[in-house]
Amino acid sequence: MKFFLDTANIAEIEEAAGWGVLSGVTTNPTLYSREGGRLADFHDHVIRICALVDGPVSAEVVGLERGEMVSEGAELAALAPNVIVKVPTTSEGLAATRELAARGVKVNMTLCFTVPQALMAARAGASFVSPFIGRFDDISEDGVEHLANIVGALRNYDFGHKVEVIAASVRHPQHVVAAALLGADIATVPFAVLKKCLQHPLTEKGLAAFLADWEKVKNS
Ligand code: G3P
Repeated sequence: MKFFLDTANIAEIEEAAGWGVLSGVTTNPTLYSREGGRLADFHDHVIRICALVDGPVSAEVVGLERGEMVSEGAELAALAPNVIVKVPTTSEGLAATRELAARGVKVNMTLCFTVPQALMAARAGASFVSPFIGRFDDISEDGVEHLANIVGALRNYDFGHKVEVIAASVRHPQHVVAAALLGADIATVPFAVLKKCLQHPLTEKGLAAFLADWEKVKNS
């Protein structure tokens, strides 16, 4: 499973890229707004992220009608070769995805919650489908179970093009474990969750013991 960072924060992307584990980035309007992003700077911000990441960078359209999504998507796709256009899983989104895919633009269909939505996204031509886990948990449903259903259903079919599942709305390391065990292609994680995935008390304890013992070697 590949790790994507779910952020629009440049410092976080630089840090994770430096670890050698970053295969892509997903952004959304909320994440950009959280960075104090301004409309006038949005395209430059996407270009900056694309230059930092050796992999797909999802940038989301905000239009609701297919024509708006297609023209916004075409503009975003022209910003850098690794831009993936993020489109909501709606009927207009499906139509826009179909058109963008026909033009050779890769699409990530987002806000995907159910098996039929995922199947339609893949059928319309999406290269990435993003089932949200945490938002199901927020409403007392089992987000991992929904992810399992989507991964299992998509695996049953050949859509004539590569379709990768991005486990999204990841809130903690257990979501990452579940996504990997289910065979999701990608988990897109907030930087805080990525850091938690790396931490283990036995790693810290073991390292402290190695260093303490090395002090004895140095002083011998
Ligand atoms: O990229 C979209 C998704 O990961 C959002 O996560 O935590 O806002 O549900 P969250």
